Amino acid sequence: MTFRGLLDGKNILITGGGSGIGRAMAQHFSDMGASIAVLGRREIKLKETADLIKNKGGTAYFHTCDVRNTDQINEAIDYFLDNMKNIDILVNNAAGNFVSPTEKLSPHAFDSVVGIVLHGTFYVTLNMGKRWISNSRKGVVLDIVTTYAWTGSAFVVPSAAAKAGVLAMVRSLAVEWARYGIRHVAIAPGPFPTEATKRNLFPIQDMENKIIDRIPLGRTGRMEEISNLAAFLVSDYADYINGEVVTIDGGEWLKGAGQFNDFLSLDKDQWDLIREMSMKK
Ligand code: HXC
Repeated sequence: MTFRGLLDGKNILITGGGSGIGRAMAQHFSDMGASIAVLGRREIKLKETADLIKNKGGTAYFHTCDVRNTDQINEAIDYFLDNMKNIDILVNNAAGNFVSPTEKLSPHAFDSVVGIVLHGTFYVTLNMGKRWISNSRKGVVLDIVTTYAWTGSAFVVPSAAAKAGVLAMVRSLAVEWARYGIRHVAIAPGPFPTEATKRNLFPIQDMENKIIDRIPLGRTGRMEEISNLAAFLVSDYADYINGEVVTIDGGEWLKGAGQFNDFLSLDKDQWDLIREMSMKK
């Protein structure tokens, strides 16, 4: 399902747009009328995204860029602005992550993930924000975080720490930059399988099945579901939503949080027994 015309006339920059959720959003936003700019580290993947869009009649530009490098960010945004004149919406989607016992991490491993997720998100936001503010232009920033940004999670400490920082940034800038007409929103996805998550986060099939068992809706997310949410949040229909994070995880994190949620596994006899015992005077 696509809301055609929802993003007509919008120019949207997506970091990490060469693969996974970034590519899915790029294609979906284009189907909804937006012109797309994608940046990321791998030229071949970015070109594929742009070609997919152009082959359907859309407009797309790409530029290689590691979001940890401020010169590369500046160069990429200059290139997009030369071609698109303005960027209305920034989607900070670029991420790096892998599962590991924390005691096995090197400082460099921590720096890599935090560098991409927290520093990279800040650097790109700062670059766009300065341009919007000095040109008196409105803007929207959508940051892709995760549900463990507020719960934390074992085995992904760098990512959890970085995503928590991004969420704090969303809420801080939502207040600080609203006076410039810049709106901040975030999406906290649960598991949305992509090539990278399969390789880096769920390399063992059994782990993916265990995660699915924890999701009340009994499945992982679909790309068009997160893309539709993202499209709404960056669109003019969401013009009064600022500083909010929307969870899209099939109820996963709440299932882990509720004290009695494991009672879902009880059968009828066990429920009858509980009732009998608890009603005894
Ligand atoms: C332990 C690891 C490791 C691993 C890398 N390192 N992988 N340590 N376990 N699996 C260590 C390296 O040994 C090195 O430390 C340091 O991390 C940097 O590694 P490089 O490969 O040199 O860094 P770089 O090329 O910058 O790669 C960054 C990366 C990589 C994060 C490490 O995985 C990457 O580029 N990922 C991008 C794609 C990705 O991860 N997508 C998934 C996003 S999903 P030393 O000390 O040896 O030099 C996501 C969703 C979260 O974020 C929500 C899920 C539910």
